[in-house]
Amino acid sequence: MYTPAITGTGVFTPKNVITNAELVQAFNAYADKMNAKNAEAIAAGQMESLQHSSEEFILKASGIQNRFVMDKDGVLDPDVMHPSLRQRSDDEPGIMTEMAVDACNTALAQAGRTAADVDLVICAASNHERAYPAIAIEIQQALGIDGFGFDMNVACSSATFGIQAAADMVRSGSVRAALVVNPEICSGHLEWRDRDCHFIFGDVATATLIERVEDAQGPHFEILSTRCATAFSNNIRNNNGFLRRSRPDGVTDRRDMQFMQNGRKVFKEVLPMVSKHISDHMDTEGVEASDLKRLWLHQANKTMNDFIGKKVLGREPETGEQPNILQDYANTSSAGSIIAFSKYSDDLQDGDVGLICSFGAGYSVGSVIVKRQS
Ligand code: COA
Repeated sequence: MYTPAITGTGVFTPKNVITNAELVQAFNAYADKMNAKNAEAIAAGQMESLQHSSEEFILKASGIQNRFVMDKDGVLDPDVMHPSLRQRSDDEPGIMTEMAVDACNTALAQAGRTAADVDLVICAASNHERAYPAIAIEIQQALGIDGFGFDMNVACSSATFGIQAAADMVRSGSVRAALVVNPEICSGHLEWRDRDCHFIFGDVATATLIERVEDAQGPHFEILSTRCATAFSNNIRNNNGFLRRSRPDGVTDRRDMQFMQNGRKVFKEVLPMVSKHISDHMDTEGVEASDLKRLWLHQANKTMNDFIGKKVLGREPETGEQPNILQDYANTSSAGSIIAFSKYSDDLQDGDVGLICSFGAGYSVGSVIVKRQS
């Protein structure tokens, strides 16, 4: 048996930023257009008018200020309201592969490793641009890795579940090193025309290199323990799939083919589930709240993270103890906690213990307890 360690991480950040102001301006222009177009039906009481979105609401309800996206023009065009992502030919690298390769190369460079040192690629993300061949295999080929790859999807928990799968394989010796990569093009499955959620997501790709602790070339995080849990819920759901081409009534512009959530219920049900999951995991591993130097939480909502941090630590987290990146990136699904980890872990000292935790649709929750070593 080997001890697995995180030896490198990488974050690919798209070039385009959308501020709340830009987003709200586009949404409100769209709403005005729709209301003008449907003025008669609205006046006759057959349709509800669309209400304006507001920057103040978005910041207060979520803590989000900006988001990065792969295409900004389509999203901000009131006549389009979705990213205009060019459909690529089968001979070109896929868009997820392009983002993933960038993040993987950063992770490899940080670890002082090359493709030759890696045996496995797991592409763990909420949405995949095609059914097969697996995106992971395309990434594997693009990086020049011998070995194997596979895709997995546990929505927002994909990264931590991927880390558990990779860590277990490194531990058993079936692979020397694994890249877990999370190319999340959330803009493609967000309904930008829905005021209740149009502000939630952004795009990004993160990568984590996991290898045997004795192979680490520099500072790294030993993986002390991982834990995953799921409990079925319809409160975060996306029905896009091959069995669901149109509604029984024949309508094809299907709201349920994009991200849907009952945000209030998610709040109420996921918070206790996550807090208990983390506390139980720490108990089992003999990790006290006072031992925990940092919490890298899933990045969906600031209030939610404040609550979890307080519950787990038993007090208000101090500045920097529980870093948020969602103000800049919005919710980036499975990648959020890994962005936080990647950007806010270098300053930890030898022996410092921290915990990465993601949670979301499923419901699902995954936690990874790590210890800094040089
Ligand atoms: N601009 C202005 N007002 C808005 C708005 C917008 N963009 N969106 C909603 N509102 C209004 C609502 O219509 C509602 O009005 P009402 O009180 O008159 O009915 C009011 O603001 C409150 O809406 P609500 O949806 O209850 O807000 P909330 O405080 O629950 O915040 C979320 C919404 C989505 C930010 C929050 O529920 C959340 O983050 N939940 C958990 C999300 C999560 O973790 N999801 C996992 C995703 S992977």
